[in-house]
This record gives sequence, structure tokens and C-alpha cells, in this order.
Amino acid sequence: MKILVFGSLNIDLIFPVDHVVRPGETIGSASLTRSAGGKGANQAAALAKAGMDVYMAGKIGADGEFLLRLLESYGVDTGCVSRYEGATGQAIIQLDRDKQNAILLFSGGNGRITLDEIKGTIGKFDRGDTIVLQNEVVRMAEIMETAHERGLRICLNPSPWDTNIGALPLDLADLFFVNEIEGAAMADLSGAPPRRILDRLAERFPTAEIILTAGKEGAYYGFQGIREKGDIVDLPVADTTGAGDTFTGYFLAARSRNFSVGEALAAACKAASIAVSRMGAMEAIPLGTEVF
Ligand code: RIB
Repeated sequence: MKILVFGSLNIDLIFPVDHVVRPGETIGSASLTRSAGGKGANQAAALAKAGMDVYMAGKIGADGEFLLRLLESYGVDTGCVSRYEGATGQAIIQLDRDKQNAILLFSGGNGRITLDEIKGTIGKFDRGDTIVLQNEVVRMAEIMETAHERGLRICLNPSPWDTNIGALPLDLADLFFVNEIEGAAMADLSGAPPRRILDRLAERFPTAEIILTAGKEGAYYGFQGIREKGDIVDLPVADTTGAGDTFTGYFLAARSRNFSVGEALAAACKAASIAVSRMGAMEAIPLGTEVF
């Protein structure tokens, strides 16, 4: 069983700030770090660090070659990443004094994926393989439909959330990873507690597994009548960027290794807790030896 992550590759520019800049305001940042990110690439890195055979598909410009070298150093197969004559996706990340972030995205190559590339890439995978998707590349509906036609198991993390997600063929997904905000939007239950959101989503998507992450409250699992909960490990927080990506990769890896749902939730929560105790996104994701 192969795992394909079809998603974004970004250059993350991290600006530590006192507070997220307000309209009309100019503030300074004590440092600037250029590092590897993108929800797709982070999830591929997490899966690989957790010991899985992972294939990454997406698009970069010449400035993004270092992302591929880093992914390859973790064992990710980057043969399905294409190039174009433009810039790689970029994320301007303001990291405030409470270690919360605000992100401004430039799509770059993530916005240039073609239908031919989708068909060509997914055609290399077979029934029973898994595709992992986020919402940082274009043509999401075509990716989902092509993957479904090919018989792939679809795991969807609809992040970052936008109003176009409602128009996606969500019923094709076999597994959702959502945070509280995404889950509440999908369930049309703004401000509701996680368990209520989970119940509504499990009812709305009866053939899909739902994993709802809730920050310090841990993570919740729902599938039909089954409910489980995992708790975080209490570590000091340095940077929350990429916590959800780490969770996604480790949950899927743990399930592939035949961990029970409860064990997989515990492993994924531990991995995400370690990731937030370190600066950065991809490079902060722990190795499997630190988690399992
Ligand atoms: O999920 C974290 C990621 O979101 C960052 O690495 C940044 O690139 C943005 O895409």
C-alpha cells in the first residue's frame, strides 16, 4: 500500500513578533527565519519520519529545490513533484509572544497544478493506495474525483478553510482531519463543543472516519457510533506551526502499523506536542524513534 501526498510545498518566512500586525500598523521582528513548510510537504515529512513509504506530488519553482532535498533526506520520494518557471509557494508567518501564528500565503507553484499532472500522477497509484490532501493547491475537486475513480482511499484535511470547500465532492473522502474551526464550519455548528461537532460530522459523513483536533484539549475520533479521545503531552510551546500536519502524518502512520484508534490518537498527540515544543514546521516534526 503506497501513500501519496498531493499538496503544497512552501517556503516559510517566520517573523517572531510581539503581536500580529494590525491594519495601518508597522512593527518590527527581531529575526527572520527561512524554513521548509507547506501543509502537503509537512504531512509527507511527518509520514516519512514516522517510517512510512511516502510519495510527494506538487509543484515548485527553482527557489524551492531545497524543499525537495530536505524531504528526500527524510525518505520521501519526490519524483512526482513538477517544476515551473515561477516562484515556489511562500508563507509569511507572524509568530506572536503567545506562540500563536498568523499566516499570509502566496500560492506560487501550488496554484499552477494542471489536470494532466493530476491524471499522470494519480495514474501511477492503484486501488487500495492512500492519497492525503489539504486545501493549499488548486483543482482539489479534480484531484479528489481522479483519485476516487482510481480506487484510492482519500484522506482530506480541509485546511486552510475557505468557502470553496463546501463545493468539493466531500462524500468521496474516507477520512477527514479537521480542527475545531474547520469542523464547526463543516458541521454548520459555530462555537459548539468538539463532541457535538463530531457527532454531527459522523452523521453527515456515515462512511468516513472523522478526526477532530482541539489544541490543548487533544483530539477526538468518530466513525459511525464509535467515539475515542486522545490527550496531548504537556510540553512548553515554542511554535504551533505545523502541529496539525504532524498529527495527520503520525495518525495515518500509526494506523498503517496496525495501532488501534486509541493508540494512534495517543501517538499523533504526542508527535504534535513534541512538534509545538520546537521552532518551525517541517524541521520540528519528531522522528518515529521519539514517538513510538
Ligand atoms: O500547516 C503549517 C503550514 O501552513 C506552514 O508550513 C505554512 O507553509 C502553511 O502552509
